Amino acid sequence: MARAPVGVGPLPAEMRAVVHHEFGPPDVLVPARLPVPQPGPSEVVLRVLAAAVDYAQLHIRRGGSGRVGSTREPAYGIGEPPYVRGGSVCGEVVAVGSNVSGVTLGSWHLVGGLRPGAYVEYGVVNASALRRPYPNRPGPTAVPDGLSPAEIAAFDYAPVAYHTLRVAAGLTEGETVLLHAAAGGTGILAVQLAKAFGARVIATAGGDAKTSLVRSLGADVVIDYRAEDFVSAVLKTTDGRGVDVVWESVGSDVFTRSLDCLAEAGRLVSFGSNSFTGEGTVDFYPFWTKNISLIGWGGANNAEAHAPEIMADLLRLVAAGELRPVVARLLPLEEAAEAHRMIEAREAAGKVVLAPDVKVATTSRRSRYRAGPARRNPAPV
Ligand SMILES: NC(=O)c1ccc[n+]([C@@H]2O[C@H](COP(=O)([O-])OP(=O)(O)OC[C@H]3O[C@@H](n4cnc5c(N)ncnc54)[C@H](OP(=O)(O)O)[C@@H]3O)[C@@H](O)[C@H]2O)c1
Repeated sequence: MARAPVGVGPLPAEMRAVVHHEFGPPDVLVPARLPVPQPGPSEVVLRVLAAAVDYAQLHIRRGGSGRVGSTREPAYGIGEPPYVRGGSVCGEVVAVGSNVSGVTLGSWHLVGGLRPGAYVEYGVVNASALRRPYPNRPGPTAVPDGLSPAEIAAFDYAPVAYHTLRVAAGLTEGETVLLHAAAGGTGILAVQLAKAFGARVIATAGGDAKTSLVRSLGADVVIDYRAEDFVSAVLKTTDGRGVDVVWESVGSDVFTRSLDCLAEAGRLVSFGSNSFTGEGTVDFYPFWTKNISLIGWGGANNAEAHAPEIMADLLRLVAAGELRPVVARLLPLEEAAEAHRMIEAREAAGKVVLAPDVKVATTSRRSRYRAGPARRNPAPV
């Protein structure tokens, strides 16, 4: 006989959320109330502790997929409004479906693909998603210890930084890498990882606050590309040789001009378009004369980036104090529009994170369990 969902207590009927009914500028994001989703037999309900604001969600909110303004922009079909934007969530299990076993109520997990989205108080995922970072080790082990929920949500961009650099671009010890948007939510992790891999790091960022942050994270050379020409600066600091790897998510002329920064046999990995421009004119000359390579990254790479050996390496680096996400701003859920605006205005140094309860989002697991007797011995179900 089918069991009813099991939970820590009755879920409320309604929850706070942020939705949009049309595509457009940040202020299309508005607070709303939605029904709390019920879990299917193989699903779990997570209480959202923190939700990282993901750049891809800015593209989708605008109505595109990185090619906005392009004549080749496809119509973006994502169902009927109201839309709820997604992203990486640190959530706590509060109920499980009738067929779910091996999941602990009260455990914390890092997930993407929450339904109806990330900008909510409660969301549903298939229980198999909780095992994503550790396919061979089920259970409440999916988040780094000692970090707050806001930092854990921001940490979910570390696999992207790791895989783009190490696997896609093949960055090795002793090589030189140029990191663009190095003060962004993914960039700050890439700086620390490239240093951990033993590379010489040349980083670009816009403005004093961002360049200071990137310098404090260990970058060897930091270029403020609002103030100086980054191509000249890179060639100057490498004695005209150029870099082995360019890590590129800005697009537009930053992409095309970065080809001039590559050394012989250099590799450029492209994994985003923060400039909201998906097209450009490429000069192929350096491909023939310098044997350079262009590597695209995205889609299925995201799952590969969460492979157990990569996650294990990332957690080891966090535990060793060599890797730490930086939360630029932690805002209440209802301020999602402000969060999107800040990122588009390039005001954020680090990751912008939203939380239904800001206090909970800043409290690490250890102190939270101590504070809450109801959660002290979460029961496996
Ligand atoms: N392909 C995939 O599957 C995948 C997966 C995850 C992430 N990504 C990509 O990874 C990139 C980084 O993501 P993120 O969420 O961490 O974003 P982010 O780097 O925090 O984005 C903000 C940064 O972009 C830079 N930027 C450059 N041009 C900009 C412009 N025209 N408008 C606004 N900002 C601009 C800004 O730095 P400055 O002010 O210093 O220039 C800013 O710090 C994004 O392109 C995202 O789409 C791709």
